[in-house]
This record gives sequence, C-alpha cells and structure tokens, in this order.
Amino acid sequence: MEQQDILKERAARRAVELVPDGADIGLGSGSTAEIALRLLGEQVRGGLRLRGVPTSERTASLAQGLGIPLTTLEEASELALTLDGADEVDPDLNLIKGLGGALTREKIVAKASKQAVILVDESKLVRVLGTTTPVPVEVLPFGWTRAAAELAGMGLSPERRTTPSGEPYITDNGNYILHLATGPIADVPSLDTRIRAVAGVVETGLFHGIAHLVLVGAQDGVRELRG
Ligand code: 5RP
Repeated sequence: MEQQDILKERAARRAVELVPDGADIGLGSGSTAEIALRLLGEQVRGGLRLRGVPTSERTASLAQGLGIPLTTLEEASELALTLDGADEVDPDLNLIKGLGGALTREKIVAKASKQAVILVDESKLVRVLGTTTPVPVEVLPFGWTRAAAELAGMGLSPERRTTPSGEPYITDNGNYILHLATGPIADVPSLDTRIRAVAGVVETGLFHGIAHLVLVGAQDGVRELRG
C-alpha cells in the first residue's frame, strides 16, 4: 500500500469508530471515503446497524455491494454524522471539496448531519484554501458558457472538467463541473457568495462553517482538528 493510502486508512479507521449503533449516516465520495465505506461494510457484517445516505451513485453502488443498507434524506431528514473526504482543509476547517465531482450532494448531506466528519491525509492541509487545487463548481448545462464568461470576468479562469477521453464530465445530477483557478482565497464566504450569485451555478466546492471534525491521517497517528 502506498504511504498516502496508509494515512487515509488511519483516518478512516478512527472515523468508523465514531459511528453509533442504529444511526443514519451520510456516506461520502472519493478514495478516502471509500476506505471508510469498506471498513463500515466489515462492521455491518459484524452486526453494526446503520442506514447510509450516499453522496454519489458510485458510493451507492459500492455500499450496496458491501451490504450497507441505504436510505434517503426524505426518509431520514437528520443524520447523526457524515463521513467524507476533502481536497483542501484550512486551519479554520474550511474545505475545498468536489474534485470527485460529487460536491452538491456532499454539501446537502453534510448540512443534514449533526456532525460532518472529514477524513484526510496530511497532504490536504493548507494554510489558505486555493493553494493546491482549483475550486470545482457545478453548473447547469443550459447556458453554461454564459456562466463561464461571468466567472472569467471575475478573474477565475473557469475550465470545464472533461473525462479522460475528452468528453464533458457529467455529474450525477446531469450537470457540468467548472474548475476555477482562484489562487489563494482571502475571504472564503465572500468568494462563495459571489460565485453562487452567477445564474446557472448550482453549488460550489467551498465548504465553510460545515466541518465539525477533521481527522488527519499523519505519520505520527491521527490528529483531530475541531471547529
Ligand atoms: C468528491 C470529494 C472527495 O471527498 C474529495 O475529492 C477527496 O477525495 P480523495 O479522498 O480521493 O482525495 O469531494 O467529490
């Protein structure tokens, strides 16, 4: 196993210990969340009772394969916690999420959770968001070039995400993703508000005031950062 995967697994192991018996929980997306999913599958086979709300079609199908019962936010409107990954985490527990393309469902599920628990390896920690990754933004296909032009006018250099074969990437909601080259973000809530004001923007990958606990898989163990 690669070193980064070992650190991800460390964080995921700590995270699944937080899941109470009988809980409804959010199931995140991405490679770190998938490690937690696999560990949860083992727990469920060992007798843990839970129902999960998946944040992507991929997570739904993986969970089903692992025998994890699924539910919806219609059935379970408040979740005990959600376990999810992130692309960047700043010292105030603001996040960039969505390089896996699932940001809108991830934000809805995190906001429906009493505790949003984020699992990362230490490479995801940054002093300022926007340092290492673009900010993914989900947009409607209708008129997306207008939205992109407006975002370009804000100096954000949007690029439509494509698949490895060069086709437009389509989210589980049938939309496009634009990657914004923000550079270091001085004021996360203000930038989020400006981006969301663009017609056609569905959601941004800026998560501020959402994470309660970040579990960081590090060389010396698991660090816990609390908001
Ligand atoms: C998916 C996400 C992921 O949580 C994020 O991209 C981190 O993924 P990984 O654990 O593979 O690094 O937001 O939309």
